[in-house]
Amino acid sequence: MDGPVPGWLADTVLYQLYPQSFADGNGDGIGDLAGIVDHLDHLAWLGVDTVWITPCFVSPFRDAGYDVADHFTIAPRYGGNDDLAALVDAARGHGIRVLLDLVVGHTSDRHPWFRAAIDDPDDHRYIWADRSEPPPGFVASPGTRPGGYLPNFFDFQPKLNFGYGRANPAEPWRQPVDAPAPRANRAAVREIMDFWLGRGVAGFRVDMASWMVRDDPEWVETARLWQEIRGWLDATHPDAVLMSEWGDPRIAVPAGFHADFFLHVGGDGNGRPLRSLWDTGDGVRRDDWGRLDCYFDPDGRGSPAAFLAAWREAVDAIGDAGFVALPTANHDFDRLCCGRRTAEQLPAAFCFLLTWPTLPAIYYGDEIGMRYLPDLPDVEGSVTVPGYNRAGSRTPMQWSGGPGAGFSTAPPNRLYLPPDPDPRRPTVAAQRADPGSLLHVVRRLIELRRHTPQLGARGSVRVLHAGYPLVYLRGDRFLVVVNPRRAPARIGLPRPVRGTPVLGGGVRLADGGTGAPAGGRPASSGPGGDAAPNGGGPGGAGGRPGGDRVLADGFGYAVLLLDEPYPPA
Ligand code: NOJ
Ligand code: CA
Repeated sequence: MDGPVPGWLADTVLYQLYPQSFADGNGDGIGDLAGIVDHLDHLAWLGVDTVWITPCFVSPFRDAGYDVADHFTIAPRYGGNDDLAALVDAARGHGIRVLLDLVVGHTSDRHPWFRAAIDDPDDHRYIWADRSEPPPGFVASPGTRPGGYLPNFFDFQPKLNFGYGRANPAEPWRQPVDAPAPRANRAAVREIMDFWLGRGVAGFRVDMASWMVRDDPEWVETARLWQEIRGWLDATHPDAVLMSEWGDPRIAVPAGFHADFFLHVGGDGNGRPLRSLWDTGDGVRRDDWGRLDCYFDPDGRGSPAAFLAAWREAVDAIGDAGFVALPTANHDFDRLCCGRRTAEQLPAAFCFLLTWPTLPAIYYGDEIGMRYLPDLPDVEGSVTVPGYNRAGSRTPMQWSGGPGAGFSTAPPNRLYLPPDPDPRRPTVAAQRADPGSLLHVVRRLIELRRHTPQLGARGSVRVLHAGYPLVYLRGDRFLVVVNPRRAPARIGLPRPVRGTPVLGGGVRLADGGTGAPAGGRPASSGPGGDAAPNGGGPGGAGGRPGGDRVLADGFGYAVLLLDEPYPPA
């Protein structure tokens, strides 16, 4: 896709917000839009500038809102359409754009379209096998119409008909992509988008974007569909963006999206690029994932190689047409703080996230190191299959102390999900008061990225060491060192460098001969610390640290500004 990419996207830091659990403005135990408005100052202070809100439309909420019953109306529990407009306005006042979730691969089985289709054999909005017995994979008709319908995810999410990539005489329900019903559904997608874009939203995260046209080898027709929609979007709303839930940016961006997320699923490796970074194996599990040692593993058993290779392949395929988005987590997958990975490892993870040339996406609460809570009950479809429990990543935002964690004033038994019961759980209030906290580290990293184009999504990168530690150059002056394991790590550089840490801790440069720091003290007292940009930090007044060795403490991380440009390879 060669359409223009809105300039703001390259510089954005995205924040994903699960509206059920972010902030409850009216005390009924469930988050709402007014609650989000009340906390925009937190997001603005943190420095994020695009917020993606998971579905907030009328729904029976059997899949947390991914079962939409009315695409044009905000669910009453979150407020009304006016509250969405008020949120968009207030967010704009804070310099924040709002993305909504576009869920158009399926609807709820309570959607009026579906209620009409179950009694009308001539209605092809959904994929219907009109025969006495539903074929395998279809769900029996709940209406007077015989046969059954094709579900998209859960059985109560009937798939909308966007046609098939190829015909099959044995499956007469297969329609071509340009048959009247698939075309009507395409038009409906544009209508929904236009409705919300007209109310000021900045674009959409698109649910199950790769899964629109069925039996579509190489996604040829799926790409045509999204390219058509993208062409319309570029012509009518040129500043708006589409970000896909595809999990394979190398395919999704050429197919029409401005950006695609690396996900825990999707792509040739079934989510391997993202899981090879973050997946400790201690949170949500799927049988088809197999065993994997992630790079951000405290015992240092992983490697960044799988991620780096997939990222390279993706950016080579994408060129300037769009971006790879890299999330800390999402509402379907573990939080960063999960199982054996504890809070002390997170500054290094955020240093990587916010200095790598991808679009960073912070999942709400990860900025304070909220943890994935195991073994929660199935709430609104959070458990898809046994073991795959998404509720652990959907618990209330921990704003402050107290039984409702500052999320809600409702009695604890009325909260959407229980907050982390650990008395030492992190909170925004406590971390804001502590300049050494993860929250402050994340904020400083965002601020540094914002003021340093070389560290952003478009700047160049050169990996000098792909192991423990990971060492890379951004532009020719910024050296980033990340050591996500508990044990220290040291490596030799191809040439000596001198530089000043602008952010981070537990990393120093030294001469190979002695292994001792050359020209200064260690960068700071520990990985939680933070070097002052100039003077007061590493090296102090006595000179700049330098050498051809990088020494990283356990969980150390740093961004160093080199005195001299690093020579090209
Ligand atoms: C992906 C969403 O992220 C997930 O939460 C949902 O259950 C499915 N799509 C179905 O819409
Ligand atoms: Ca509420």
